[in-house]
Amino acid sequence: MTSPSLPVTESSYLDIQGALGITKHNGGLSATLEILRLCRVADAQEVLYVGSGIGVGPCVIAGRSRAHVVALDISERMLDWTRQRAQEEGLGDRIETRQGDVLSLPFEADRFEAVLVESVLAFVQDKARAIRECVRVTRPGGYVGMNETVWLLRPPAAKVLEQATALGAYILTADEWQGLWAASGLVDRTSEVASIGLRDEVLSRIQWVGWRWALRAYGRLIRLLREHPESRQAIRDQFRAPSGVVRLMGFALMTGRKPI
Ligand SMILES: C[S@@+](CC[C@H](N)C(=O)[O-])C[C@H]1O[C@@H](n2cnc3c(N)ncnc32)[C@H](O)[C@@H]1O
Repeated sequence: MTSPSLPVTESSYLDIQGALGITKHNGGLSATLEILRLCRVADAQEVLYVGSGIGVGPCVIAGRSRAHVVALDISERMLDWTRQRAQEEGLGDRIETRQGDVLSLPFEADRFEAVLVESVLAFVQDKARAIRECVRVTRPGGYVGMNETVWLLRPPAAKVLEQATALGAYILTADEWQGLWAASGLVDRTSEVASIGLRDEVLSRIQWVGWRWALRAYGRLIRLLREHPESRQAIRDQFRAPSGVVRLMGFALMTGRKPI
């Protein structure tokens, strides 16, 4: 399978991730494994992974369970990466890809035993509606699990918020997330908030995508900058975090069960 072609200019954070073939969420693999444990994914027959990115999450689930995994993403480019990754890991027959929006999931109600979402709702304004959709397609007795970025104490200064919004991200405080989660209608809810350590995050991101995919993404970045120097500024703007911002951020792992 050929890689998706590189663009001439890229503007949004997620477009750049799609062009480079690299996606991630805070907490990396260990956060994902914790959500899978809390959502009893090892016993599930059919699991929905919303916002598949380059496909790491769907491959982790398929590799650690017998479940049929449906990987959904709004971006066809991300779904190309997911199919490539699934094939490379010998999991192509276990992972089905589907284009769609978390705000209007293209599935009937009560279908999946677990619905997992990692670092997707940060990019969606109507988070309550996205949560309702995830609950709707979950089977009664099944689990919904989310990992989303939070501001740890309170929203940061206006300048930082502006930069987050420029990345297309609408980040809530941990308290705001916990309010949404309490209103989800799920029972047996869990909610854990963790801070982000810069060094651990860098290492966990490499562990998440794997060295081979990380090196390929780096190669694509070099090619993109060489062949399309006009992309340089867009990339610089997207990845320049205001100093100290990482200290303000954490992530919330939230799980719950749909009542029977
Ligand atoms: C930051 S990436 C995280 C990807 C993956 N969960 C991971 O941890 O590697 C966010 C993903 O969500 C997808 N996405 C953004 N908005 C979406 C929406 N409204 N519905 C479905 N997917 C969406 C993006 O295309 C992207 O693949």
